[in-house]
Amino acid sequence: MTVPLAVTVTAKQRGRQTPAAKAKAEEWGLPFCSFDRADGIPLSERIGTVADAFLVLGGDGWTLHDASGSLYFSPGTAALRVRRIGKPNQDEDVLVRLCELQPGDSVLDGTLGLGSDALICAKVVGPKGRVIGVEASLPLFVLASEGLKRDPPFPDSAAIDVRRGTALEVLRSLESHSLDCVIFDPMFDLPKASTPSFDMLRRYASHEPLDEVTLAEARRVAKRWVVVKSGRYGKEFDRLGLTPLNLTRFKPLVWARVPPSPCAAGRGSG
Ligand SMILES: C[S@@+](CC[C@H](N)C(=O)[O-])C[C@H]1O[C@@H](n2cnc3c(N)ncnc32)[C@H](O)[C@@H]1O
Repeated sequence: MTVPLAVTVTAKQRGRQTPAAKAKAEEWGLPFCSFDRADGIPLSERIGTVADAFLVLGGDGWTLHDASGSLYFSPGTAALRVRRIGKPNQDEDVLVRLCELQPGDSVLDGTLGLGSDALICAKVVGPKGRVIGVEASLPLFVLASEGLKRDPPFPDSAAIDVRRGTALEVLRSLESHSLDCVIFDPMFDLPKASTPSFDMLRRYASHEPLDEVTLAEARRVAKRWVVVKSGRYGKEFDRLGLTPLNLTRFKPLVWARVPPSPCAAGRGSG
């Protein structure tokens, strides 16, 4: 019988990295598989027979492998956006503009994914700022949290505090008006055409739509703005009563910005 997800190490790292990978497997509540690679059976042949997918620790960090491909953390997608920040003749980053982000700010990214938006926030708020990233999917949490440890944010960035769980769970643990901004980039209800790595992220991501309770908790925790991204042709904003801002007319994304709620101080309910 196969398990949905297991942990192993690359053949080259066997021995050297096995104790670290085993400890991580235990921390994440996943089985650890130690293969005798001398039998010549490639990992691809263990997929579907031992586990449907493997988190594999290699010399360059963790990779998620399944029958359709592989996915690993790379800050590359954020790098282009980071390079543009503050440069003359460049459009201001929409997320940074909508959050009105400043050095020293605090941000919770309730849909961390592989962390591009969180990395942008971390760069703008700088070392005196604070960024919390929340990811509900275990394999994506592993890639983001371990990747961010190996590849710390760009120079002069805030460290990103990665938490596993739902945005609602983490928001409920926070005091009212204790962070400047909360951002959400949930999976779109109508997926657009994408790259193989985004297709793989989509297979492992939590597809729970953003709900009114989570949005209300975000408005309780935020001091300045709650910013939500969605697909242009989705129904998310209608369902949540959000008004799309007309920012990027020819792009597949729409954004909404909601002010904090004028609620009493304290922690969330539940
Ligand atoms: C579109 S991706 C986010 C991409 C991210 N903004 C970036 O820049 O890389 C959405 C991610 O949010 C996660 N997610 C969705 N709903 C969530 C929730 N309620 N709590 C925590 N994570 C959630 C999904 O598993 C997925 O990894």
